[in-house]
Amino acid sequence: MIIKSLQLQNFRNYESCEIELDKGTNIFYGDNAQGKTNILEAIFMMATTKSHKGSKDQEMIRFGQDEAHIRSVLFKEDVTRQIDILIRKNKNKAIAIDQQKVKKAADLLGLLNVVFFSPEDLNIIKNGPAERRQFLNVELCQLDSFYLYNLNHYNKIVVQRNKLLKEMYDNPSLKETLPIWDSQLASYGSKIIERRNIFIDQLNEIIAEIHDKLSGGREKLVIGYDKNVASDELEEKLLKTHQKDIMLHQTTVGPHRDDIIFTVNDIDIRKYGSQGQQRTAALSLKLSEIELVKNSIHDTPILLLDDVLSELDSNRQNYLLNQIGDIQTIITCTGLDEFVRNRFEINKVFQVTNGVISN
Ligand SMILES: Nc1ncnc2c1ncn2[C@@H]1O[C@H](COP(=O)(O)OP(=O)(O)OP(=O)(O)O)[C@@H](O)[C@H]1O
Ligand SMILES: [Mg+2]
Repeated sequence: MIIKSLQLQNFRNYESCEIELDKGTNIFYGDNAQGKTNILEAIFMMATTKSHKGSKDQEMIRFGQDEAHIRSVLFKEDVTRQIDILIRKNKNKAIAIDQQKVKKAADLLGLLNVVFFSPEDLNIIKNGPAERRQFLNVELCQLDSFYLYNLNHYNKIVVQRNKLLKEMYDNPSLKETLPIWDSQLASYGSKIIERRNIFIDQLNEIIAEIHDKLSGGREKLVIGYDKNVASDELEEKLLKTHQKDIMLHQTTVGPHRDDIIFTVNDIDIRKYGSQGQQRTAALSLKLSEIELVKNSIHDTPILLLDDVLSELDSNRQNYLLNQIGDIQTIITCTGLDEFVRNRFEINKVFQVTNGVISN
């Protein structure tokens, strides 16, 4: 699949712009704070209906305006498709596919697949479990609408259960209702755990070879699912921890406490890895993600590289860019030097200056 064009109106610092993308490698370069990442954010919205930064919809509307509009024309399985997203102040966003309004935002998922790679992703291994869970959720929500459905329900129930735990302090009789919440939580939660299991198995099948090459055969990288609780034990554990949960006003068991372990030659590199080791493993993870998405959708995703090349040494840059192959890639950077120096093939170059794009 490829994105043929992108049109923005009153999105972030863009008043109005229209870009025709190449099917190969596209570069957006410019100084800091000019609007390069905003372009990738708009594309990420098309794929996931959300900002990659977790921004609220309202924040993406250009200052002083009431609506932002993103339009993208794709070419997928030999068919031209159009996505429109209208972000409105104090209202839910409206989404249309081929000019037909969709009922709910989730109906858009799966039409456009992207793999987003930012410098923060290089820290995924040294960061906390919340970032690693976020990685699982972003990937799985794109690949599996059931996962998204289960996750949305699960998250809502955790919030409601926590609220109940708080209220129980003043009203102990509420305790009787807790098992009802436990059973609902277990029903959605166990599906999340099972899907994460499969995902991590699939990643492991791919990552070993990639990391072997990236580390010059020196390291054996294995990802483990550090689950808080097994899917078939979730309900029982929830029941058993009532006392603790009531005391802490928090749901202390469940997949919202999961983590992923990264081991290199059997050592947990979250704790004991060198910075370079952690970053290389993170790069392997991203490269595996591309392969996994390819295998799942039987098509190529769009690769979005936000300022990430300057963070890698030239060996790893080379490896990444050679891996890309036939994937449409959109790269942001502040200068073009590295490309010229390393003679990477660039198909189209855009300069970004204060919300205006020229080429
Ligand atoms: N809602 C908004 N309305 C208008 N301008 C906005 C809005 N949100 C962000 N901006 C502006 O967008 C610019 C940041 O854009 P962006 O993050 O794309 O920059 P960048 O070119 O990627 O910079 P860097 O190289 O530092 O990553 C800032 O100048 C910011 O003030
Ligand atoms: Mg940026």
